[in-house]
Parts: sequence; structure tokens; C-alpha cells
Amino acid sequence: MSTELTPAQMDSYFIGFTPNPLFKRKPRIITSAKGSYLHTAEGKKVFDGFSGLWCSGMGHGHPKIAEAIQKQVETLDYVSAFYMSHPGAFSLTEKIASLAPDPLNHVFYSTGGSDAVDSALKLALGYHRLKGNAGRTRMIGRERGYHGVGFGGISVGGMVANRKMFSTLTLPGVDHLPHTFDIQQMAFSKDQPTWGGHLADDLERLVALHDASNIAAVIVEPMAGSTGVLVPPVGYLQRLRESCTKHGILLIFDEVICGFGRMGANFAAQRFGVVPDMITFAKTVTNGMQPLGGVIMTSEIYKTFMDQPEFTNSVFHGYTYSAHPVAVAAGLAALEVFSSEGVADKVKEKEHLFQELIHSLKGEPNVIDIRNVGFAGSVEFAPIAGQPGIRGHRITDALYEAGYYLRWSGDQAVFAPPFDSTAEELEALVEALRKCIRANA
Ligand SMILES: Cc1ncc(COP(=O)(O)O)c(C=O)c1O
Repeated sequence: MSTELTPAQMDSYFIGFTPNPLFKRKPRIITSAKGSYLHTAEGKKVFDGFSGLWCSGMGHGHPKIAEAIQKQVETLDYVSAFYMSHPGAFSLTEKIASLAPDPLNHVFYSTGGSDAVDSALKLALGYHRLKGNAGRTRMIGRERGYHGVGFGGISVGGMVANRKMFSTLTLPGVDHLPHTFDIQQMAFSKDQPTWGGHLADDLERLVALHDASNIAAVIVEPMAGSTGVLVPPVGYLQRLRESCTKHGILLIFDEVICGFGRMGANFAAQRFGVVPDMITFAKTVTNGMQPLGGVIMTSEIYKTFMDQPEFTNSVFHGYTYSAHPVAVAAGLAALEVFSSEGVADKVKEKEHLFQELIHSLKGEPNVIDIRNVGFAGSVEFAPIAGQPGIRGHRITDALYEAGYYLRWSGDQAVFAPPFDSTAEELEALVEALRKCIRANA
């Protein structure tokens, strides 16, 4: 396949979450990737400081995962996802359950994060209904939350730009907790900010307003990734858990980014010491090498769905590609690598170094905040007056030209370095960013 693209080809592809005309004027076309590096159509090598889209932390083209995918596609390419399955699906479930905190022991599969979120919301509704609480239908998300792009996800999500074009069709009966970011109180916090735990108590206000008997679930990202690494304040998740338990509301952690090592633990639930009722996952479960996601749930939720008449579907929900054999093979191989290479511990060991390096940018021109936890971080810049996002674009664009990729997210450069990053690579990445910040002051 030629890597030369004609203008017509360039024009034919409508790329999501991308200013298309800008991209097409100066495209970033990647033709191969290995380990921590991307190789561009122009023959340049770029350090992937964002692990793809938070998903390829164990390195691009990992040979063990690639081999498992190849073998699987030759053995069993596809099997119906309904009233039929294959052995790998059960092995993968066993593996995921072993990594998740007890009592989250059962998995429902989707094909990515957005449908994992929609599945979790529907499972929450179904659970309450089966328990005789059909009135529990309200959902509570959080401002600045990202839960994918399904109508469920954008409804509980709190990113204005993702909602406003579609706002008339967001779900009714959704409230949002306040987000947890306050630059006055927490600028340049390392790891968890000490201020802000009390913000979880807003849930009590919503319970007082609607009555708990109408509320199905609260969904939050333990660490909000897409709005720029908003780390939960100390005690915040614990307080949410306490309120949910008190009022019989299900707590869902959306760990599509956090799960499988990014937080220096199997899941954020373990990192922050709070066990939710459901965890959504995707991305790193296959190291980004196949699309797969799902919901891990407690035995209590699972058993409630099982306790129905014999010839009734346990849930009227599922996807053609739920537990797709090739994606499952990738997941099994990726999680084998995750355990045998001690990925979570590796991140835990190196996160302090990452933290100190990224915080060394404090004091550089226009840097107004730096946030980090595990192997996730964000450097936030003061916006150019009347031109939000442009400074962030200029800096991350110059960085890409210099051979380092960080995600441009408004006036932020967001880090999700590969788990195998060496001290030298992390240092070089931060120094390259420093140069670009100065050059665009
Ligand atoms: C927390 C969270 N939930 C859901 C999603 C959506 O996942 P997907 O893009 O696989 O649909 C994402 C994607 O980044 C995410 O970060």
C-alpha cells in the first residue's frame, strides 16, 4: 500500500475529534510503530508519549500479543456472541476478575469504552428493576467527565463541546456533580490534591433533591483523563463510596484509561483504596491491539440478573463483537504480559521520577499548572487572550516536529508515557517540551 495520499483520498476520510482541514493541511500519517516509537510516512521517528490514545502502554507491536492475535485468527475467527461462546472468553474473564478488587468477579464484554459505559448504565437500570426498584432511573455524572460518545456517555459526561451539538437528545434525568478542579486551591499539586474531598458531598444535595429511591447510579472517572488528568482529591472517592452505600446507589468507576497499570496499580480502585460496584474498562486490556471493552461487576449484580426464568435472556443487551475471539486472544496475551512483566509495579517504581521531571517545568513561561498521578500527567498553559487552545496547539505541534508526541488538549499537553519508558526517554521528552514552551512564549 502506497503511503502517498492523493488529495481526494485525504478528503474522503472524516476523522473524529480532529479539526479535519487543519489536519489535512499538515497530516500526521503513521506507517509503522514498534515499542515506544511511531514511524511517520516521512520516515521520522516519534516518541509516543501518549501511548497511542492511553492504550498502548506495553509498547506497540508487542510480539507476544501479535503472535496470539495471528494464531487466533487462523483458529477461530468469529463465533456468535449470543447463546454461543469460546473458551478464551471465560479465561479472560477469570484473569480480569483476578486483577480486579473483590467482589468484582463477573464481566460483560463490549467492543470499547463508549459501549462499556452504555452497558454499565443499562446494567444499573436493569439491576434496580430486577430488585423491585424500577423507580431508580436517575443517573449522576460529573462536570468535566468523559465517558465516551454514546448517548448514555455524553449524557453523564461533562465535556461541554461533546454535548452541545447533540444536547436535545441527551438522556433525561441526569445530574452532574461539580468537577474537582480548582486552580486556586490545588495548582501544582503532586499526585492527589489535599483540597477538595468535600466536593463529593454534593451527592447528598442531589439525594435530598430527588430522593435516593429515584437514583440508579453515580459514574465517575477516578482520575478524569480527557479533561486533563484531574486527580481525585484526598478522601473524595471514599466519600462518594460512603454516600452511595448509604443510599443504595450503585457506584461506577469508568476506568477505561485508569485500568491495567496507568495508575501504578491494576485499577484505580486499588490505587485509591475504594471499591465501586462496577468498573468499565477498554484500551490497555488488549494494549490497544484489538478493540475490546467491558464492565466488571459485583457478584450481587451478576446474581440478580441470573435469578430470572430459565428461558429468558439474562439481559436484553449485547454486541455482535462482545468477547470477539481475536480481541479476547489479544486481551489474554496482553494481560499475561501485564502480569509477567509486573507492569503495575514498574509504573509505581517510576512514577516518582516522572512526577519530578514533569514538575520541573514549573516556572517556565505560561505554565499555570502541572498535574500527575501514576504514568499520567498534564502541563497546562495560560491561554492566549481570545484564542483558547492555540498556545497548547503551537507547543504540542512544535514538540511533534521535534520527534515527541503528547496529546494536544486545549491549552494542555497531556502525558501518558509508555510503561517501559526509560529515565533518559522521559527526561528527553520533558526537555523537548521545555524548549517548545520557551520557543512559544
Ligand atoms: C474514561 C473514558 N471512558 C470512555 C471512553 C470511550 O472509549 P472509546 O473511545 O473506546 O469508546 C474513554 C476514551 O478515551 C475514556 O477515557
